[in-house]
Amino acid sequence: MKHTIAVIAGDGIGTEVMPAAISCLDEIAQIHDLSLDWNHLDWGSDHFRATGRMLPVDGLETLSTHSAIFLGAVGVPDIPDVETLWGLLIPIRREFEQYINLRPVRTLPGVPSVLRDERPIDLVLVRENNEGEYSEVGGRAYRGLPQEAAMQQALFTRHGVSRAARFAAELATTRSGRVTSATKSNGIIHSMPFWDEIVAETLAEYPGLTLRSELIDALSASLVLHPWDYDVIVASNLFGDILSDLAGAVAGSIGLSPSANLNPEGRHPSMFEPVHGSAPDIAGKGIANPIGQIWSGAMMLNQLGAPRAAAHLEAAFEAALAAGVRTRDLGGTATTEQMTAEVISQIRALAARFSEPEV
Ligand code: NAD
Ligand code: IPM
Ligand code: MN
Repeated sequence: MKHTIAVIAGDGIGTEVMPAAISCLDEIAQIHDLSLDWNHLDWGSDHFRATGRMLPVDGLETLSTHSAIFLGAVGVPDIPDVETLWGLLIPIRREFEQYINLRPVRTLPGVPSVLRDERPIDLVLVRENNEGEYSEVGGRAYRGLPQEAAMQQALFTRHGVSRAARFAAELATTRSGRVTSATKSNGIIHSMPFWDEIVAETLAEYPGLTLRSELIDALSASLVLHPWDYDVIVASNLFGDILSDLAGAVAGSIGLSPSANLNPEGRHPSMFEPVHGSAPDIAGKGIANPIGQIWSGAMMLNQLGAPRAAAHLEAAFEAALAAGVRTRDLGGTATTEQMTAEVISQIRALAARFSEPEV
C-alpha cells in the first residue's frame, strides 16, 4: 500500500536527524515492499521569516490529506517560541485531535546508564496532548506598567481526561496491568482532584488493572531512583512533558526518545516526532543523535499497519547501539552520519530475519 507522508524537518537538528531517519525508512521500505512517498514541506522558521507564518493559510488542509506527519523539531533562539510552536506544532496536535502523546522509554543495549543500578527500564508515558495546563485561556495585561500581570488557566474536561485514561488502561491490558497516574492533588490545584476522580472512575472499568496515583514531585524522584518499577504512566499535558525528558535522560539521553501524537480513531493523520527539540547548542555540527527520530519513524510504521517493518527498524538501531556505535550525548564519538550508516548496515544484516512482506 502507498503511504504519502508529510515531512516537516523544521529547524536546527530537525534538519539533520530527519534525512537520517528517512534514509533508514527508505531502506526498510524497500525490504518490506512498502511504498513511502515523502512530501517535504519547508515549514520551519525560515518560512516564518519569509512569510510571517509557520504554516501556510491552507497548511492544515494540506496535511490532512496525508497518511501521517513526520516532524523533526521547530524553534530557534531568535524567534519567540510562541510563534514557532503555537504557529505549527500545537495547532497540528489540536486540529487533528492528536489527544494522546505516546512516549516509550526503555533501556537500550550499549547505552551507558546514568543510574548506579542497571535494571532494565521499560515504561510508556501516555501524555494527554490537547488540553490541561496548555490551554489557550489566559493572557497578559498592563504591559510595561507596574501592575503588569500574566495569567494561565489549566482546562481539564471530563471528555479529555477520560479518553487519555482509557487509552492508558487499554495499553496496560497489553502490558503488565499497572497504571500510574501523575497527580498533584495535595496542593491547592483544583484541576488535579478532578483528574484523579476521572482516572479512577475510568480505571474501575478494568478490574484486571491496578492504579496508583503518585504526586508529581515524589514521582519525579522515584523515576530517577527506581524507574524499572513503572510500566504505563498517564499524565496531564505539562506533567507528561516534563516526565518525558526526565525519563528519557534517565534511560541514557533525550536524543533517544521517540513520540507519537496519535488520533487513535484514525479520523485525522497522526504525527511522529522525537521528544527533543531543535537543540540550537549543537545544531549544524552533525553530531545530533538520530535515534529519537528513527524510533519515531518505527512508531509511524506501526501505525501505518507495518508492525514487522517497525520491529525490524527497532532491532536495527538496537543492534547499531549494541555494536558500540554511539553519538556524543551517549559518551561516544560517532557523528549523525556514522550512526545512521551503522543503522542502515544493521537493517541489511537483519533483513532475512524480518523479510516476509506485509501490507
Ligand atoms: P532540546 O531538546 O532542543 O535540547 C535540550 C538538550 O538536549 C540540549 O543540550 C541538546 O543539545 C540536547 N539534545 C537534544 N536532542 C539531542 C539529540 N538528538 N542528540 C544529542 N543531543 C540532543 O531543548 P531546548 O534546548 O530546551 O529547546 C530548543 C528549542 O526547541 C526551543 O525553541 C524549544 O521550544 C524547541 N522544542 C521544540 C520541540 C518540538 O518541535 N517538538 C520539542 C522540544 C523543544
Ligand atoms: C514536546 C515539546 C513541546 C511541548 C513544546 C515545544 C511546545 O516540549 O513535544 O515535548 O511542550 O509539548
Ligand atoms: Mn517537551
